[in-house]
Amino acid sequence: MNLEFESERLSYTPLTSDDLDIALALFTDEAVTRYVCDVHTPAQVKQSMADSVRRGGDGCIGIWCVRRQDNGEKIGTTVILPMPIEHIDTEWELVVPGQWPSVDLEIGYLLRRSAWGRGYATEIGHRILRFAFEETPLEEVVAVTDPDNHASKRVLTKIGMRAEGTRRAYASDCCAFRLNRAQWLSQRNRGAGGTDPGANAKPGA
Ligand SMILES: CC(C)(COP(=O)(O)OP(=O)(O)OC[C@H]1O[C@@H](n2cnc3c(N)ncnc32)[C@H](O)[C@@H]1OP(=O)(O)O)[C@@H](O)C(=O)NCCC(=O)NCCS
Repeated sequence: MNLEFESERLSYTPLTSDDLDIALALFTDEAVTRYVCDVHTPAQVKQSMADSVRRGGDGCIGIWCVRRQDNGEKIGTTVILPMPIEHIDTEWELVVPGQWPSVDLEIGYLLRRSAWGRGYATEIGHRILRFAFEETPLEEVVAVTDPDNHASKRVLTKIGMRAEGTRRAYASDCCAFRLNRAQWLSQRNRGAGGTDPGANAKPGA
C-alpha cells in the first residue's frame, strides 16, 4: 500500500509529528477553523498531534500533509476519517491499525489562508476520492460542511459528491454529501464531476 501520492501540483504524505508546523498554522487561524472547530491554542495543537498522526485500516484512514510540488510548501491537510455524529471531534479510538470502523468515513481538507482561491481544494478533493476508490476497499465516502461554508459546498459539488440534504455530524446539523464507488467510476468514465487534475498521474503516484 503506497500512502504517498501526487496530483498535478501537489504531493501527499501521511501526517507525522514533523508536521506540527502545518497543524499550528491551520488550527490557530480563526479564518481556517471558522466552520470546522474552535480555534486552538498552540499547546492544544501540540497535544492533539498524538491523535492526528494515528492511522487506521491498512494505513488508509488518517490525515495527509499536502505540499506544493514546485516549492515544497505545506499548504494544508486532507483526511479520510470516521465521521463523528454526536461528538464534536473525530472519535480517535476508532482509528486503529488493521481495523475498518463500521461507521461512515468522511473525506475533508483544510488549507492555510494563503493557499485559498487557487483550485487546490478541488485538486485535493479529486485526488483523495481517487485514492479512496482506487487504493482502499471502501465502497462509499461521505463529507459534511457547515451550512454557511459555501466554498466547501462548492468544492464538494465540483468533485462530484452528491448532496443529500441535512444530517447530524459533529453534534450539529450539517450539509451532507455522499459518493459511492459505482457513482465515482461512472462520472470518471463520463469525464463528469469536474476536471480531475490527478487523472493522468502515474499509477500509484
Ligand atoms: C474551503 C476551502 C477548503 C476552499 O479551498 P480553495 O482551494 O480555495 O477551493 P477551490 O479554489 O478549489 O474552490 C473554491 C470554490 O468555491 C467558490 N467559493 C469561494 N468562496 C465562496 C463563497 N463565499 N460562496 C460561494 N462560492 C465560493 C470558488 O469560487 C470556487 O468555485 P469555482 O471554481 O466554481 O469558482 C478553504 O477555503 C479552506 O481550507 N477553508 C478553511 C477550512 C474549511 O472550511 N475546510 C472545509 C471543511 S468542510
